[in-house]
Amino acid sequence: MMAEKNRKATLTIDGKSWELPMRAPTVGPEVVDIRKLYGDADVFTYDPGFTSTASCSSTITFIDGDKGELLYRGYPIEQLAEASHFLEVCFLLLYGDLPNAAQLEDFENRVTRHTMLHEQIQYFFRGFRRDAHPMATMVGVVGAMSAFYHDSIDVNDPWQREVAAIRMIAKLPTIAAWAYKYSIGEPFVYPRNDLDYASNFLRMCFAVPTEEYVVNPILSRAMDRIMTLHADHEQNASTSTVRLAGSSGANPFACIAAGIACLWGPAHGGANQACLEMLREIGSVERIPEFIARAKDKDDPFRLMGFGHRVYKNFDPRAKVMKQSADEVLGLLGFERNPLLRIAKELERIALEDDFFIDKKLYPNVDFYSGIIFEAMGFPTAMFTPIFAVSRTVGWISQWKEMIADKEQKIGRPRQLYVGAPRRDYVEIESRR
Ligand code: CMC
Repeated sequence: MMAEKNRKATLTIDGKSWELPMRAPTVGPEVVDIRKLYGDADVFTYDPGFTSTASCSSTITFIDGDKGELLYRGYPIEQLAEASHFLEVCFLLLYGDLPNAAQLEDFENRVTRHTMLHEQIQYFFRGFRRDAHPMATMVGVVGAMSAFYHDSIDVNDPWQREVAAIRMIAKLPTIAAWAYKYSIGEPFVYPRNDLDYASNFLRMCFAVPTEEYVVNPILSRAMDRIMTLHADHEQNASTSTVRLAGSSGANPFACIAAGIACLWGPAHGGANQACLEMLREIGSVERIPEFIARAKDKDDPFRLMGFGHRVYKNFDPRAKVMKQSADEVLGLLGFERNPLLRIAKELERIALEDDFFIDKKLYPNVDFYSGIIFEAMGFPTAMFTPIFAVSRTVGWISQWKEMIADKEQKIGRPRQLYVGAPRRDYVEIESRR
């Protein structure tokens, strides 16, 4: 529903008032435009964590946290997860509309033809310790891409921006798979153009030169769906990091490397690894109450990983699809009695009936079930967040491209509430106490 136009908010400080314009979204809450506030009223606003601050306008993704709704370019995530596939969703996010058949074919061709890495990049991988976390390798290799693809780092050239976008969507699976192969001491597997995006990724992770690798269609469909569910999520921490890095005019590879670094944290993309490690630590259904009690204890820093979300206060629609996928994949692979899945389901049941979690509106998020699926597929926990990074690359790039083309964007430069020492004079060392 369109909000009423030309509404204004009034800010009054010590009897003096300022009118602030309001901006109407297509859906969602109205926004008070405070851009001129400092110039006019000489005050800043204070909002660490951006809980009430829109950092940009965007046409890409919309979340209604109360309804538990997630839309990519207006399309509900459940419909896309069911009927679409990852590369079609990439086109949708990047260009704004679903492709027709010719557009999709052209896009798939372009992505497929960019999946190989510059051969010299291999040596970059080899510089890492074998026990490096694949996310560390990815931050390094993606950042280093700006030293390999000089013809797509001019952010002012729309064609170069387009080429950089396609390159990153195409090459991130190869980079993530090679980071994994390197960590287990197996040879790198080159991409194959006759496979779809998810199958190609699975093959690069699990094939070995000594035998033919046959992609399991159930697993590749599940991987494709997981990628779709993770593809974008409006102005989350890593996306905001990409936008902030990009706002200075930094090249796209450097910006995506910054996004990967931010995603790594356990409060964000690192939660899928942390969640599986937590389920392992719980170990049996009998121990769940002990961990629930710890999560409720204010003096214990422990949190239920895979629970809670800054925006979703009803349920995370991605978690619903993910739970269904977990049931399907584990059922089909004969893992339905997987002890971790039993613990996860029981933990979810107990937490959803507990007043603490109900009052704080804490529900399972996308990371709660994804790790169980990844584990059933044969991935080690360290690969969970890299898969998230591969999937989110299209979202980061779409948001970065939108920002570069947005005339209202400036270099990101927050202000602060300074609470340090006021001006004081330098004291020579002999005179200091
Ligand atoms: N377990 C126990 N208590 C929790 C949890 C949890 N997982 N999450 C939030 N709370 C409590 C928190 O202690 C606080 O209580 P109080 O008001 O008494 O201080 C209240 O709920 C609000 O928490 P908050 O930290 O102010 O909320 P936030 O919006 O800043 O944090 C979050 C959101 C996702 C970082 C947080 O819920 C969390 O740490 N969850 C676990 C990590 C996780 O699963 N992250 C994945 C998020 S979804 C995918 C992604 O974004 O990458």
